[in-house]
Amino acid sequence: MSENNVPAETRGESMEKYISLIKEINENKTRTAGTRPAAFIRTFGCQQNEADSEKLAGMAAAMGYDLTDKPDGASLIVVNTCAIREHAEKKALSVIGQLKHVKTRDPSAIVAVCGCMVSQEYRKNTLKHSYPYVDIVFGTSSIHHLPKLVFERLSGSGRLFCPEDEETSIAENVPVKRDSPYRAWVSVMYGCNNFCSYCIVPYVRGRERSRKPEDIIKEVKELALSGCRDITLLGQNVNSYGKDFGTGYDFADLIKDISTIDGDFRLRFMTSHPKDATEKLIDALAASDKAARHFHLPLQSGSDRILKAMNRHYDREKYLATVEYMRSKIPDITLTTDIIVGFPGETDEDFEETLNLLRTVRFDMIFSFIYSPRRGTPAATMEGQIPEEIKSKRFARLLEVQNAISAEINEKVKDTVVRVLSDGESKTDAAMMSGRTDGNKIVFFEGKPGENSTGKFLNIKIDRTEAFALYGHKI
Ligand code: SAH
Ligand code: SF4
Ligand code: F3S
Repeated sequence: MSENNVPAETRGESMEKYISLIKEINENKTRTAGTRPAAFIRTFGCQQNEADSEKLAGMAAAMGYDLTDKPDGASLIVVNTCAIREHAEKKALSVIGQLKHVKTRDPSAIVAVCGCMVSQEYRKNTLKHSYPYVDIVFGTSSIHHLPKLVFERLSGSGRLFCPEDEETSIAENVPVKRDSPYRAWVSVMYGCNNFCSYCIVPYVRGRERSRKPEDIIKEVKELALSGCRDITLLGQNVNSYGKDFGTGYDFADLIKDISTIDGDFRLRFMTSHPKDATEKLIDALAASDKAARHFHLPLQSGSDRILKAMNRHYDREKYLATVEYMRSKIPDITLTTDIIVGFPGETDEDFEETLNLLRTVRFDMIFSFIYSPRRGTPAATMEGQIPEEIKSKRFARLLEVQNAISAEINEKVKDTVVRVLSDGESKTDAAMMSGRTDGNKIVFFEGKPGENSTGKFLNIKIDRTEAFALYGHKI
């Protein structure tokens, strides 16, 4: 793209220019057709992608599109993809495949694909050659280029394949349309420098760059003022926040500053890397009356040998010391983690060490993944790739061990009162309401018909517990 080397501020202006041009086009269309054009956005992957999609939605709304929840009839379709595991890519490709029919029915519809999967050159080529009805392809660093790309395509350009943006500045002031009025994501940094040997993220999200504290604080203040109750600070490794400033201002300082903001909200963050989860950060959390008593600290494996092969830069001892410090400062903290089973070379003994560490730490909850080789990462070509049957067996065993621990931990909450942020009617059981505790555990509770508690903090007395959920009633 011609403006690749232009500073972010200038790029922001160009975004506004294209937004107003497209708005004009869409307003003209509305006058002739009588209906407003619609935009459909489908999102795969983690919270970072959800946050990006809220920006895509913000830009689409500013361009005069109404957002719709189905691709049929939409004039603009955006698929925001993930590349973390093979399954994520397959799902995205299948959804993109189904869009062929939409495009056949309405050849004027614009189909755009963005996000982590297409930040890989070879995947861009897959779309170029095998999905000819895809109009626009742009990676994670080009999210804010959407208006310019749509404008070019509307103006009769050929198919557009946006090269990865090498530059490291951050585009501020992108319009946002948030999914929820009371839960919000706030990105504090982008990218990752860690290159864990299994992980695609550094290749598709680029190097670490932090947003300025004043921009973040301004955004959090606005959210707090608007009545937002749950704010999650996002970054692939929030403990690295600020390292690129060279001023010494770090993530703990940011937590301290945000904690002074007025408002009835709880503050979360994800994700932390154990190699640099500092005592300063834990102290800042302990001192904050806003920070949720929850720490998500991805362990990945309990075997030092595997942790080394994963390039994680910590060992069991360091991990356990961090957990011990956390519990000494915040005894009621909810601890969660990520585990990968079947990393290349993982023996039964290595796997047993992971199970042992789960039994020692006793996490409230784990997010477990079967290792998926990612093209271009060192682990994908390591010797000792583990057969699928063994991976699946280990995965099932891991869940069995953890479920028993989660069930025991949750049982202790029975008959106590917990603070829950209500999400209103449960999506799985219409007769119940649901919400989340400080530790992000799901709670189901009885609601009165017509009573609207959505987005409010409630005190719920827990009557019954399971490994994955708490059940109770409002007091
Ligand atoms: N930045 C975060 C997590 C990013 S991805 C961190 O460092 O913890 C979320 C989780 O996906 C990771 O914690 C890891 O457990 C899992 N994951 C990443 N790459 C994977 C792969 N190739 N196969 C299976 N799981 C993977
Ligand atoms: Fe991936 Fe490791 Fe970076 Fe997390 S810290 S995003 S696992 S490379
Ligand atoms: Fe997926 Fe990209 Fe997130 S690969 S997990 S959407 S950073």
